[in-house]
Amino acid sequence: MAPHVGHGQTVAKIILFGEHSVVYGHPAIAMPLRTLRMIARVEPTDGPGTLSGLGWTGPITEAPARFSSIVKAAEVASDFAGHPGAGLNISTESEFPPERGLGSSAAAAGAVIRAVLDAFDTPATPRELFDLTQEAETVAHGRPSGLDAVATSAEAPVHFQAGQATDLEFSPDAWIVIADSGVEGSTRETVGHVRARFEAEPDIITALLNRLGEITDEVVVDLRTGDVQGMGARMTEAHGILGQLGVSNTQLDALVTASLGAGALGAKLTGGGRGGCVIALAATEEDAENVEKALVDAGARGTWVHAPATGQMAGEVMQ
Ligand code: PMV
Repeated sequence: MAPHVGHGQTVAKIILFGEHSVVYGHPAIAMPLRTLRMIARVEPTDGPGTLSGLGWTGPITEAPARFSSIVKAAEVASDFAGHPGAGLNISTESEFPPERGLGSSAAAAGAVIRAVLDAFDTPATPRELFDLTQEAETVAHGRPSGLDAVATSAEAPVHFQAGQATDLEFSPDAWIVIADSGVEGSTRETVGHVRARFEAEPDIITALLNRLGEITDEVVVDLRTGDVQGMGARMTEAHGILGQLGVSNTQLDALVTASLGAGALGAKLTGGGRGGCVIALAATEEDAENVEKALVDAGARGTWVHAPATGQMAGEVMQ
């Protein structure tokens, strides 16, 4: 079939447990947010191609640095499809903000890769899609663990360790409130900070990373037994450890404190940190509403509430 307009879709994600420690081989749990979509459209063209997304439109050759993983995604997918250097008009549309630990860069790369493969009618296995996304992500993140690449295309929560993902049969029977601090976090920078501390103080940092790994293992049991209280307590403990690693900041700490004050079972930052989002666990819908309100009062720029069981999202974004 001749090349035609291709479409690709991925979603936002949150890391429930294991950011940073996952980079050192420990387990992590992430959850796709199926109603916050990233949509890509790709049109093969004779010219050098254009890019449109994140409020910018222009020739692909002049795309600003923040598009580097999208440009790389188009390149690796065109190679894979047997059309190296193909001219492409690429557009992305996102239902969630970038640079907030919600997986925007992996989601954009994954959606563009799927759209390019669709345009050239090229099938790919989940493993091949993962590898292509990782190649593109390496441009944005350095050496990503792969957690974002997996979670932004997952159907259900995933357990991830050392490049291997398994579906978790259980999702928490509680409401998850997600709040955007409004501050852009740089994952590359926070991963580099933890690495530098690891090299300078290996004993201290290893102990902290080990505890984060244990917490994830304990939460797998909490999910199985339905112990949301236990899971909440472990969230707050994980936030404290991430703070000790130096990847929290005053805004994130304030949002965690506000959540706990409003009755959350636990709260923590999610993703790379020093900006981005916090997540809070609430036992009931009413508690979730109270937590959401407290988060907005404490300065959250946007909130989303993830309800249990159905996986439905009630979303509200306030800028
Ligand atoms: O900031 P995010 O949502 O892309 O998450 C980064 C997660 C880290 O564990 C800090 C890095 C990684 O590669 O897994």
